[in-house]
Amino acid sequence: MAEWTECMNFGITIARQASKVILEAFRAKKDVMLKSSPADLVTETDQRVEKMLISSIRERYPTHKFIGEESVAAGEKLELTDSPTWIIDPIDGTVNFVHRFPFVAISIAFAVNKQTEFGIVYSCVEDKMYRAQRGCGAFVNDVPLHTSGQEDITKSLVVTEIGAERDCLALCTMTTNIMNLLAIPIQGIRAVGTAAVDMVLVATGGADAYYHIGMHCWDIAASALIVTEAGGVVLDTDGSEFDMMSRKVIAASSMPVAKRIAQVVRAFPCTRDDEDPAGVTNGGHC
Ligand code: IPD
Repeated sequence: MAEWTECMNFGITIARQASKVILEAFRAKKDVMLKSSPADLVTETDQRVEKMLISSIRERYPTHKFIGEESVAAGEKLELTDSPTWIIDPIDGTVNFVHRFPFVAISIAFAVNKQTEFGIVYSCVEDKMYRAQRGCGAFVNDVPLHTSGQEDITKSLVVTEIGAERDCLALCTMTTNIMNLLAIPIQGIRAVGTAAVDMVLVATGGADAYYHIGMHCWDIAASALIVTEAGGVVLDTDGSEFDMMSRKVIAASSMPVAKRIAQVVRAFPCTRDDEDPAGVTNGGHC
């Protein structure tokens, strides 16, 4: 609704400010810390950028709530209530950032009554500002976005990621999924290294679909709205309704392509983002 336009414009302004910190640090040597796995990384810049974004928003909107990747990693409870909530990934593509692989994004979604009102994905190195507001279309640097409209899986270019999980079941499931898609056959498979950018590529029409298992709500909440506002569809990997907390997603140019991917892709067990890891027997990892 138009009532959140001011919040979205503020989000765009602070994303541009925060990107300066990311770009300054991009070429520099970084101290890298591990989180849930040897492929789940965090740097001082991730933490600094998240603090910058949250403190700016809190100063302007003191009653709003937050779900931030690094705040959750530091032990904050992940809870999506009906209150206006900013869902933030300060650097989506931290492995890329560490290696200076030039695709990193700031992802900011804003939800009210658990419905995403706007999404912002700023691909900093490329200087591409993606945004969508519910019911108002999707844009990159103010140019309207449209999916390819492709309905034929055999003519599709599909994006996915191996992600951070390195246990046997996850690796086996992910590689089997890729083999099953290639065997259909699809025309190609790609991975950019940031879920947020992977997914907005569907909104641009540059990719026909994206699927992923094991990412988190802050990686894809903003992009999911950008894809649907560009005319695409977003589902769970089992073909059911998209749930940003389920850690499973298919984004596609059309329903036939999304459903065909759901037929061949299997998920490995993942703790939901909104589930208390303390109460889960697998220790909270996928
Ligand atoms: C990761 C990236 C990556 C995806 C992982 C995410 P992060 O986010 O989006 O592409 O495969 O599942 O965790 O850790 O760089 O913010």
